[in-house]
Amino acid sequence: MKIVMLGAPGAGKGTQAKMIADKYEIPHISTGDIFRANIKNGTELGKEAKTYMDQGALVPDELTVRILLDRVVKADCTNGYVLDGFPRTIPQAEVLDAKLSEMNEKIDYAINVDVPDENIVRRMSGRRACVNCGATYHLVHVPPKKEGICDKCGNELILRDDDKEETVKNRLKVYHDQTQPLIDFYTAKGVLKSVDGTVDMMDVFKAITDILG
Ligand code: AP5
Ligand code: MG
Repeated sequence: MKIVMLGAPGAGKGTQAKMIADKYEIPHISTGDIFRANIKNGTELGKEAKTYMDQGALVPDELTVRILLDRVVKADCTNGYVLDGFPRTIPQAEVLDAKLSEMNEKIDYAINVDVPDENIVRRMSGRRACVNCGATYHLVHVPPKKEGICDKCGNELILRDDDKEETVKNRLKVYHDQTQPLIDFYTAKGVLKSVDGTVDMMDVFKAITDILG
């Protein structure tokens, strides 16, 4: 099963993608997580990506596509995957589509997690992420057992650099300009499903599993 997660920054794509990956035993592939791991490890790729991410801008398609196409041909992807944060532009979606067609494959579901802009800024300021394993928490909705420490691996939790209010506003603008058109793209392919992302995260997950079966 090949799934694409769509939705504004902070809509809960990562939260839901992790649960989908566990339940259906497919890898969770987040381009944002791949970039953040590279930034943490000080790679050239990380250095380049950071200049865009810190402004809330998109990393250029050419670089992002290369990374994603390398990842989806790995052995653990034979039974599918859940893509989180990719594609984010029409050209990215077209490249993915062409690559899948070459292999006689296609995206089965594009799940749009729908959350209005008003809710987003509030959510992002409460998000905390583990510097080591990428697990995410929320100060109000999903607090860690011990303040500032990851339940899963014991490392430090931080506010992401791009979760500051001004940057979030820019990310929302970029989302509406460049990513939202993918809703029409996947609707035209007959695979788009929307779920209400404003309800409790377990209820969002229930709506998604009702779709995926
Ligand atoms: P990326 O890491 O993909 O960030 P994003 O799309 O902005 O999305 P987020 O990770 O911020 O939000 P999310 O939807 O995953 O929400 P989450 O589950 O954490 O990308 C970062 C940057 O990398 C981009 O700006 C760009 O520069 C670059 N990049 C990445 N991919 C790219 C690409 N393909 N092309 C070009 N550039 C790319 O939830 C948010 C918070 O809300 C959490 O605290 C969570 O606990 C809480 N929460 C979740 N669900 C609920 C709920 N139902 N109720 C209450 N709280 C909830
Ligand atoms: Mg995410």
